[in-house]
Amino acid sequence: MTQVTMTVNGKAVSGEAEGRTLLSQFLRDGLGLTGTHVGCDTSQCGACSVHVNGKLVKSCTMFAIEADGAEVLTVEGEADEDGTLSTIQQAFQDHHGLQCGFCTPGMVMATKSLLAANPKPTEAEIRVYLSGNICRCTGYHNIVKAIMAASGQDVSAIAAE
Ligand code: FES
Ligand code: FES
Repeated sequence: MTQVTMTVNGKAVSGEAEGRTLLSQFLRDGLGLTGTHVGCDTSQCGACSVHVNGKLVKSCTMFAIEADGAEVLTVEGEADEDGTLSTIQQAFQDHHGLQCGFCTPGMVMATKSLLAANPKPTEAEIRVYLSGNICRCTGYHNIVKAIMAASGQDVSAIAAE
């Protein structure tokens, strides 16, 4: 076992990890941050997406020890301390961008990354950006709508689901 230390959502944390422990496992089982979901463990669904040193990463594709010393953001860091939702989370709620919610943490983290790089993405750009995040429920229309709304754009032209 190796001692791993990182900053998660602004707080210094540490725990023990085996060489094979995935970052997703470390976050969920080691730190109790179960907002990061595991939908496939094979780098396909994007439910486990987090930010590592400012980059969007599928946390099942990375070993915990590789994140030693890193700055990690998870969905638990999105809302304010008092539970007030972030702009992105509120837009997902307002535009029904989720049903079961399983993919939502990854979608939120992907959206945060997209909007940081491209504050006013087009519908097409959003759909391309989300190609690494699979939703089994919504058909994506309302997710796209939520992201357009989160970026302050008119959503009336987006097809209703
Ligand atoms: S659990 Fe990581 S991509 Fe699906
Ligand atoms: S809301 Fe159910 S998987 Fe996306």
